[in-house]
Amino acid sequence: MNLKARTRFWLDLLLFISFLAFMEPVLTGVPLHEWWATAAILAFLIHVLTQWDWILAVGKRFFQKLFHQSRLNFVLDLLLFLSMTTVVLSGLMISEHVLPALGFPEQRNFFWRRIHDASANLSLLIVAIHVGLHWDWILGTARRLFPFGKGKRPSLLPQTKSQEG
Ligand code: HEM
Ligand code: HEM
Repeated sequence: MNLKARTRFWLDLLLFISFLAFMEPVLTGVPLHEWWATAAILAFLIHVLTQWDWILAVGKRFFQKLFHQSRLNFVLDLLLFLSMTTVVLSGLMISEHVLPALGFPEQRNFFWRRIHDASANLSLLIVAIHVGLHWDWILGTARRLFPFGKGKRPSLLPQTKSQEG
């Protein structure tokens, strides 16, 4: 799936803000927490699918000569995928709104609650590193999207003789 950098930028920002909101269910309320996070599964899938060519290319060359940062990103992305999958599945296991609305009985399971909490905290740590490793791309894309200052405020530039007339 090929998406333009601009679209990926907005999708990544949406994911980031959503993820921060998911970390504070007290702020959103539990029903919104559950429905929003369930809907966000689609956004996470799109995010991974847009990187599919990169995943295949790096996966194939993982044990060969490879730029070390690609290998680090690959391992981290894999860990992130596993921890996010655990958060979502454990969330569904303790769901008080989404699954009951679909006709499944509500489970009050302490084990899955602990797993949900622990995997959410682990994901937070990995997301922070993931975003940090892509910081150059984020800043570069942001500068292209919002080219503030470029070619503006000419009055601040020293004027040449010909401009002075
Ligand atoms: C809060 C959640 C997340 C944010 C804010 C985020 C942000 C980003 C950004 C900014 C990039 C580079 C720009 C781009 O091409 O889109 C990227 C790349 C990537 N992300 Fe995420 N991401 C998140 C979650 C995930 C998850 C759950 C996975 C699961 C595997 C993942 C896998 C990847 C992959 C495979 C790449 C490209 C390869 C790489 O350079 O690491 N991301 N992400
Ligand atoms: C990326 C996705 C998600 C993240 C980061 C996340 C994170 C969290 C966090 C940090 C808590 C608080 C844990 C505590 O205070 O012990 C929580 C609670 C909870 N989450 Fe999630 N969650 C996600 C997805 C889901 C999903 C998909 C569901 C169900 C459909 C869900 C259902 C719940 C429930 C029922 C609680 C307990 C709320 C309460 O009664 O206080 N979560 N989640």
